[in-house]
Amino acid sequence: MLIQQNKSLKPYNTFGIDALARYFTEVDTVATMQQVITTQEFKQHAPLILGGGSNILLTKNFDGLVLKNNLKGIEVVKEDEQQVFVKAAAGEVWHELVMWCIQRQYAGLENLSLIPGCVGASPMQNIGAYGVEIKDTFYELEALEINTGKIKTFSKADCEFGYRESVFKRQLKNQFIILSVTFCLSKKPTFHIEYGAIKQELDNMKVSTLSIQAVSQAVINIRSSKLPNPKEIGNAGSFFKNPEVTASVYHELKTHYPQLVAYPLDNGNYKLAAGWLIEQAGLKGYRKQDAGVHTLQALVLVNYGNATGNDIYNLSTYVMDTVKQKFSVQLEREVNMV
Ligand code: FAD
Ligand code: EPU
Repeated sequence: MLIQQNKSLKPYNTFGIDALARYFTEVDTVATMQQVITTQEFKQHAPLILGGGSNILLTKNFDGLVLKNNLKGIEVVKEDEQQVFVKAAAGEVWHELVMWCIQRQYAGLENLSLIPGCVGASPMQNIGAYGVEIKDTFYELEALEINTGKIKTFSKADCEFGYRESVFKRQLKNQFIILSVTFCLSKKPTFHIEYGAIKQELDNMKVSTLSIQAVSQAVINIRSSKLPNPKEIGNAGSFFKNPEVTASVYHELKTHYPQLVAYPLDNGNYKLAAGWLIEQAGLKGYRKQDAGVHTLQALVLVNYGNATGNDIYNLSTYVMDTVKQKFSVQLEREVNMV
């Protein structure tokens, strides 16, 4: 096991922030992972477990050990005529897993095509897009308990999934390293194309027979048209969550802003499109030095080159304050601050 010192994390986060890790190591076996957690470098400071670095903002140098999870492997662990259980190691690239499943006609992850990052982070915030979240196909995960070195299995109920939430972001924060995730996929697809833009894109593609390949391609086309590619411009996807408000707050806002974009929730509340709020607050395309609000998707903050984590953080505060002032709605950051 090689532990490096004062390593630049710039290539390891999609915002492209140039912060240093005091210690850094890459791990590709569970046995090494179990060794790493016993080292002084790991124990002296809360560690940072890293997948693709596509949902973090580094606001300063990191004073502890950064553990880049490179565990690999995808396998079918169980199947029958209807279902197949696919287990993927935490360091697998998420989109490659999705493609692996689509090639084999295993349905369920196609709407989640092209989400950056690794499998291990996917349950952290129950990744979601285009009407689907991983909780819909999640079966179980294995995780290494940092304090004991023991491997524990978590069922779907144990994970307490919510909108961009799980137990690993709350009560169990920094206590487990996710090693693998098992998904229960279907051999007979149920298509989720109710998210407006998908139907439209399938029409544009002139798809006559629906397939999981076609749905995946439609999602890829939509995402590529409006989300910035981190290889070209630093970002971590949606910087804020879409805020949930009560029906009375929603109706009040709707009276003043008839164009308000919102979705009713099962609990009677409404989810507001934060991108709409930010755009209407006049901030779409706003830029301060190298930190900016993306020109095509106002929910995404971007690094035009040399922004620091603090530049992005300060911009996010400015966005939150401006939206609060105009709409009396409090935005919440979705990206993990480090
Ligand atoms: P990282 O950024 O490396 O880590 C994220 C968090 O998880 C950190 O707190 C980290 O410590 C922790 N973590 C990572 N791996 C482990 C592990 N093995 N064990 C324990 N903790 C771990 N997200 C969506 O939900 N939907 C989208 O549509 C979407 N679109 C995006 C588009 C773009 C262009 C970008 C840049 C991001 C987008 N995201 C989206 C956010 C991001 O891709 C997801 O959150 C993704 O799951 C993060 O994976 P990662 O491996 O990069 O995580
Ligand atoms: N909108 C605007 N202006 C903007 C952006 C959006 O008016 O600049 C309005 C539009 O009316 C649009 C609506 O907001 O119809 C919703 O926009 P979009 O479909 O782009 O989705 P989103 O709500 O902005 C969420 C997720 C994304 C996910 C997409 C697709 C969150 C925080 N974000 O974005 O996830 O890919 O839906 O399902 O829930 C991520 O988490 O990083 C992420 C990109």
